Amino acid sequence: MAIGLILVYVLLIAFLVKLSLRPSNFPPGPRGVPLLGFAPFLPKNEPFFRAMQKMAEKYGPVTGFYLGPFLPFISVDGHKAVKEALHNNDLNGRPSGTLVISRTFGKKLGLLIVDGDFWQEQRRFTLRHLRDLGFGKTSIEDQMMGEISDLILDITGAAKSDPDHIVDFKAIFTVSVFNILWAIIGGKRYQRDDPAFKQLLANVDLFLRGGNIAQVVIPVPAFLVRLFPSLPSRLGVKDELFVPIQQFIEKSIDEHVSTRSKGDAARDFIDVYLDEMEKQLENDSTFTKKQLIASVQDLFTAGSDTSSGTIGFMVLYMINYPTIQQKIREEIENVCGDSLPSLAHRASLPFTDAFITEVMRMSSVAPLGIPHLAMKETQLLGFTIPKGSIVSVNINSMLQDTVMWGDPENFRPERHLDADGKLFRNEAFTPFGIGKRICLGESLARNTVFLFTAALAKTFEFKSLPNKPPPTLEPTIGFVSGPQPFKAVVVPLVH
Ligand code: HEM
Repeated sequence: MAIGLILVYVLLIAFLVKLSLRPSNFPPGPRGVPLLGFAPFLPKNEPFFRAMQKMAEKYGPVTGFYLGPFLPFISVDGHKAVKEALHNNDLNGRPSGTLVISRTFGKKLGLLIVDGDFWQEQRRFTLRHLRDLGFGKTSIEDQMMGEISDLILDITGAAKSDPDHIVDFKAIFTVSVFNILWAIIGGKRYQRDDPAFKQLLANVDLFLRGGNIAQVVIPVPAFLVRLFPSLPSRLGVKDELFVPIQQFIEKSIDEHVSTRSKGDAARDFIDVYLDEMEKQLENDSTFTKKQLIASVQDLFTAGSDTSSGTIGFMVLYMINYPTIQQKIREEIENVCGDSLPSLAHRASLPFTDAFITEVMRMSSVAPLGIPHLAMKETQLLGFTIPKGSIVSVNINSMLQDTVMWGDPENFRPERHLDADGKLFRNEAFTPFGIGKRICLGESLARNTVFLFTAALAKTFEFKSLPNKPPPTLEPTIGFVSGPQPFKAVVVPLVH
């Protein structure tokens, strides 16, 4: 009996020792505790990208630890390591844990978390047609200018209705950004004050502010989620927020189906996708209604808060750096005269562009991008990355790399200008990522952010509240970083 017990203990200890052994040449990092690994110690009260950067100071640019007994998590930090990781196609997969896929009907669907052939086919199709429909094209510029005019009216009204011209900037840009996106995807426009529509946008925002990318990949068995449906939410993954969004998308798809006729030109992305679904009906197709819902949901998730948050940061930096705000305004007035800035003016507005670039570098709204997955065992900076590892690439560390930027902590738009005063692109300026998984909406986002920032700088002066310090530049914590809610004094400028 006693011998049996000893044997059980020995086996148990051997099992625990085996579990705590790392594969050979695994990157250095914290060990955590047996069975759970580092999962109980994931930071909750500071932005996760900062915690990962601190870890890199201790362990080096490639840090490895385990979440649970079997899931290796690799954090990649700094220009050299990030560049190598994002150009390594073996690291182009996406995680598929229970929590990750719970947003997309429990399957790997959509655009953000799919990989392999499925991802390539869907990404290529989406990118091609979104480009044809206006992404990165001046054809969408009229739509953007319409949204900008409405926004200007809204802000002017709010400023004039307050005796001190104080405007609350909470969620003020999301409707405009979403309307631009939805014009391409669903072909419709929503009123800025439509309550149901505002609630949908608030849901996306709440989700993105909820958790961090390490929590979402924690390997939670599906049966546990069935037993405790509130578990994802407790871990910061609030999928229930997507239910009304999916219903909204499905209703729009059904409306499209009932209002289109065979042979008509496609009106928007949903029509293009429905055409493709019909074309591929016979084959074992990846083009399905669920995939369309998941893709549109992903475009909202990836595209609305990132772009609107970036515009929010533009206003915040203008308030914090009034002399620079004045310099941008002067440049725009000299070039654009009485009209609002257009995309054609951009090349003649290098300082404005340098300001936008510097705010994007400093604010880094997608600091960890979206987690990657090692599709097979591979090497990174000489370390072995086991197949199935989650690879978290710290984009913020690239934007703050001391070797590449010299003084990354300082806000200096001029760093993006060459000796002739032209915009100069530092290789480490990668807020949209690099490599094959680079952001699909980069051109749309860049045009949106440029037009909104330039128009706002030309139309208003933004100032701190009377006798108050400027609002904080510290981001909110979550999957993406956004500006904290802020108010400002807004002076409409008469031209
Ligand atoms: C300032 C705004 C934006 C920033 C900073 C940003 C940044 C990023 C980053 C860092 C990634 C991850 C790259 C990687 O996994 O390595 C990404 C992916 C993605 N973004 Fe954006 N993004 C922005 C706006 C948009 C917009 C407007 C859309 C579309 C409407 C969009 C759609 C996507 C999609 C679909 C992916 C996944 C691509 C893939 O996995 O193949 N993003 N973005």
